Amino acid sequence: MKILVIGKGGREHAIIRALKKSNKVTKIFCAPGNGGISCDAINVPINEMDKEGMKSFAKNEKIDFVVVAPDNPLADGMVDALESIGIPCFGPNKKAAQIESSKVFSKKLMKKYNIPTGDYEVFDNADNAIDYIKNQNKYPTVIKADGLALGKGVIIAKNFEEANEAVKDMMINHKFGESGNKIIVEEFLSGPEVSVLCFTDGKTIKPMVSSMDHKRALDGDKGLNTGGMGAIAPNPAYTNEIEQECMKNIFIPTIEAMEKEGCPFSGCLYFGLMLTDDGPKVIEYNCRFGDPETQVVLPLLETDLFTIMEAISKKELEKVEVKFTNKYSACVVLASPGYPESYPKGITINGLNKDGQTDDVTIYHAGTILENGEFKTSGGRVLCTSATGSTLNEAIAKAYSGFNKVNFNNAHYRKDIGKKALEILNDK
Ligand code: AMP
Ligand code: GLY
Repeated sequence: MKILVIGKGGREHAIIRALKKSNKVTKIFCAPGNGGISCDAINVPINEMDKEGMKSFAKNEKIDFVVVAPDNPLADGMVDALESIGIPCFGPNKKAAQIESSKVFSKKLMKKYNIPTGDYEVFDNADNAIDYIKNQNKYPTVIKADGLALGKGVIIAKNFEEANEAVKDMMINHKFGESGNKIIVEEFLSGPEVSVLCFTDGKTIKPMVSSMDHKRALDGDKGLNTGGMGAIAPNPAYTNEIEQECMKNIFIPTIEAMEKEGCPFSGCLYFGLMLTDDGPKVIEYNCRFGDPETQVVLPLLETDLFTIMEAISKKELEKVEVKFTNKYSACVVLASPGYPESYPKGITINGLNKDGQTDDVTIYHAGTILENGEFKTSGGRVLCTSATGSTLNEAIAKAYSGFNKVNFNNAHYRKDIGKKALEILNDK
């Protein structure tokens, strides 16, 4: 099988390294890929949004299967485009991708089908939103842009001034472009947060091991929101009992709801959950694998990833057993100085061998290029170290040990990835 993976980050690198293990996979292309990915796949210089480019490449190369990994091409109908010329894909079509690309769509879906989530109101007018926030007078309150906003469209406002500013930024200053034409004002939820990625073909849903992301830039969950600075799996707050509750009240009802709405979901459906005192509630859906969750979840997967993806595209997930090891997994992101704000590019990365790897840990590349045999930085999140262990402590220590060798000038990383998870384990 010749596979094309669309995307260019650490998530795509982890998907490619998992697909490479399959004896059904003979060749992997990645469009556009990155420096590290070029050691595991053949990079193809096609922009991830370029549907016509992707179609003609897939046709000329006789690609058998395409994995569309990032949110933007999914929301823009990349799967619809490729399927229209008969190429099977892993990922939802445009209509089903709305579960992530429109928060108004997903909140309405949850309300209609009684899927637990925070209370909310939708606004398409800034004055009405501000009046509502003033009358409600309950802080913190959560303001969300309707559309995709690179993970930055959610503001937790501690007081009226912050809420007012967030509404104005989104609706009047158009900070997130059209994504902020509509906004949601949502109830603030608290509790441990859990990410659960699930395989689904629209009828059957099979959850992967749970994980915990670390979204803020600095230790102690301080600093700005980022794409994610590290992750661990499984998440110790997510017990078997909670998993059963989620299956019954959230996962199955969601795929049934999507089917009833005429947009059955196929691919990886990501549930961002808050384990509140009133039970698990959905904070967000993503229509794809999470980044960096994928970099800790896929290393624990025992079943052949391609077999699962192929079964999903044939609507036969029911027939495949999805198995994970009992180990723990951790990854830590090495970021450019200044990230998530502006940062320099082109800094030489030390400690990587010619395959972009180092001893003992796996390196998933995100923002790297390979130039004259040298790996250099080209993005905010540059790479992550990823390791497994029989205890969470061991996995974390191993992941961090990667930075004894791999580093670059002024690189920064969080020192406390997995600390909260270890505290939860110790309390048990
Ligand atoms: P998102 O960009 O949708 O992933 O949201 C970013 C982060 O904002 C989430 O990971 C949560 O930590 C937080 N968040 C989103 N919605 C809520 C909510 N209703 N209550 C509390 N925190 C929230
Ligand atoms: N790590 C969160 C996301 O992928 O959206």
